[in-house]
Amino acid sequence: MSDLISVKNYNFTYAGSNKPALIDINFNVKKGEIVVIAGPSGCGKSTLLRSLIGLIPHMYAGKSSGSVIVDGLDVSQTPISELAKRIGFVFQNPENQIFMFSVERDIAFGLENLQLPRDEIQNRVIWACELLGIIDLMKRAPYELSDGQKQRVALAGVIAMKPSILILDEPTSLLDPYTAQELINLVKKLHDELGITILIVEHRLDLLLNIASRIVIMNEGKIVLDGKLDEVLTKKEAMLIGVGIPTIVRLQNLLKEGGLDLGRISLTVVELANKLNVILRDNI
Ligand SMILES: Nc1ncnc2c1ncn2[C@@H]1O[C@H](COP(=O)(O)OP(=O)(O)OP(=O)(O)O)[C@@H](O)[C@H]1O
Ligand SMILES: [Mg+2]
Repeated sequence: MSDLISVKNYNFTYAGSNKPALIDINFNVKKGEIVVIAGPSGCGKSTLLRSLIGLIPHMYAGKSSGSVIVDGLDVSQTPISELAKRIGFVFQNPENQIFMFSVERDIAFGLENLQLPRDEIQNRVIWACELLGIIDLMKRAPYELSDGQKQRVALAGVIAMKPSILILDEPTSLLDPYTAQELINLVKKLHDELGITILIVEHRLDLLLNIASRIVIMNEGKIVLDGKLDEVLTKKEAMLIGVGIPTIVRLQNLLKEGGLDLGRISLTVVELANKLNVILRDNI
């Protein structure tokens, strides 16, 4: 499979700062991957995402070296408007992304900027609303929606552009656990149905255990761990860095320390319960 994102020996320091925010980043993403980016506050996650979508260097001043190539384009040489056709980006706070007086106008906004024919715009708005389950919200005013609904509208606006990459920076941080899980399930659906490659910064790793194929852990501007979830989350370094290790993984790590090695780590409660059932039945 080809690499959709390729970051090589990349460093970035914000203007006015004497400390680099990103140090020697080497990071490739293949088409169709779902990658979680995690790490303590201030470690550089959002800076890395800004470097992928072109906000760095086009909107944020600073000094960079190395290369960032996305979908074959050198980000530093490509206008943000061109990158936006390929990469959809959803912020932590949907308020920053919703401008219009009705949901449907809001979702159409990015498409109008692409100067697509009116019919095509209308079709894509309906398609995106159906996919995200917000057809009944189309005529509503975005400011009167709940946070979870706003986040879906923001996601619909991005999906309507038919990007090949979807980048989400803490999309669930304003949501309650149930709505957060619903949003993550929708993201998974977009991946499965549209084949979109997804990068997601998320602190609540337990939400992503069933959907992500890979996790990248950052610390102090560097990528320190990169691999499959079950392999990375059982490493001592992951615990020391202070990434919120999901309870199900912590339980298995503790059991292993206590002498009960269950083999390959289970990422779902059902799978772990089945394993424990067998062991307990055999020993009672
Ligand atoms: N616009 C800016 N100008 C100067 N420094 C910045 C700017 N934005 C971020 N930084 C600094 O760059 C470093 C990385 O910040 P970044 O926002 O990428 O971290 P993060 O991992 O996304 O943190 P969080 O989990 O809190 O969102 C921090 O030291 C931060 O203070
Ligand atoms: Mg951030």
